Amino acid sequence: MSGPNTPDFVWVPRAAEIAREAGARLREFLAQGVETEYKGDVDLVTVADRTVEKLIRTRIGEVWPDHGIYGEEGTREGMERVFRWYVDPLDGTTNFAHGVPQFCVSLGLEQRSFHAGANEDGKLVAAVIYDPMRDELYCAEAGRGAYLNGKTGVPSEGSSSLGWKPMHVSRIPDLAESLVATGFPSRKRHDSPNIHFYHEFTLRSHGVRRAGSAALDLAYAACGRFEAFWEFNLNPWDTAAGILLVEEAGGKVTDFSGGPFRLDSREVLASNGLIHDELLALFADMFAGRGLSPIPTPQEYAARRMARTAG
Ligand code: IPD
Ligand code: CA
Ligand code: CA
Repeated sequence: MSGPNTPDFVWVPRAAEIAREAGARLREFLAQGVETEYKGDVDLVTVADRTVEKLIRTRIGEVWPDHGIYGEEGTREGMERVFRWYVDPLDGTTNFAHGVPQFCVSLGLEQRSFHAGANEDGKLVAAVIYDPMRDELYCAEAGRGAYLNGKTGVPSEGSSSLGWKPMHVSRIPDLAESLVATGFPSRKRHDSPNIHFYHEFTLRSHGVRRAGSAALDLAYAACGRFEAFWEFNLNPWDTAAGILLVEEAGGKVTDFSGGPFRLDSREVLASNGLIHDELLALFADMFAGRGLSPIPTPQEYAARRMARTAG
């Protein structure tokens, strides 16, 4: 990853190599077919998840022997260190297990202060999310912007002929004209209130996608395909990379009350920034059990859209 117009990144080039190698292994496993095991009632895991986490752990150890690693499939190494990688070797396992080609590798790097305790968070400094089925690589570093590189990455001004494309969140200013995304937990799913939010957001937007990979949902929000993404009960390996992508692409990430997102927040609300307050107001009303504002009719939507374009 170098060239006249490539971003000036420190961590991403090697992390991208690791993610691409991991993604290639996932493609092989998908082609050969794998047995599904159960971690919980509907929480699936396969040999692909475990093998690829091991591969990523080995590669990170080779490149950055002094970095810690926190992986979904059980890796806990060097949690007291300054740099820690959050690794989801296969985000979208349920899709993968059913042969649905919507999954990714997610690697997020956190930097902490020298004196931080093992439980103290730092700040996210690098992110790589790789979709091996579309060959799309989403990456960012703190303060250096977010980029998409892949077969479908259309070269644009400021990007190289290799297809480097700076990522930007969308400019849609209201929920009514937004396409948004969410997900549902695979553990204790009967306790999740999210189906009510899914219902409301569906009626108040162009639609809600439940595509099955939180990391890719965040990457799609970062590159402007989705205006927003929310989910209850996520883990740091699901969110670390995607959060930084959204922020570096100009978006906003908070908890459901508008407070700062933390890696252990579990709840995440990410958006293009422009519709964030509208989303927070809807969350507040729903949590308080207040009567919601009436849902505009399709004619009212159209009139609002026309008024906006005219103005
Ligand atoms: C899951 C996916 C899914 C989300 C679940 C996650 P996994 O991760 O990101 O979209 O709704 O909450 O657990 O188990 O496929 O790595
Ligand atoms: Ca995951
Ligand atoms: Ca996973």
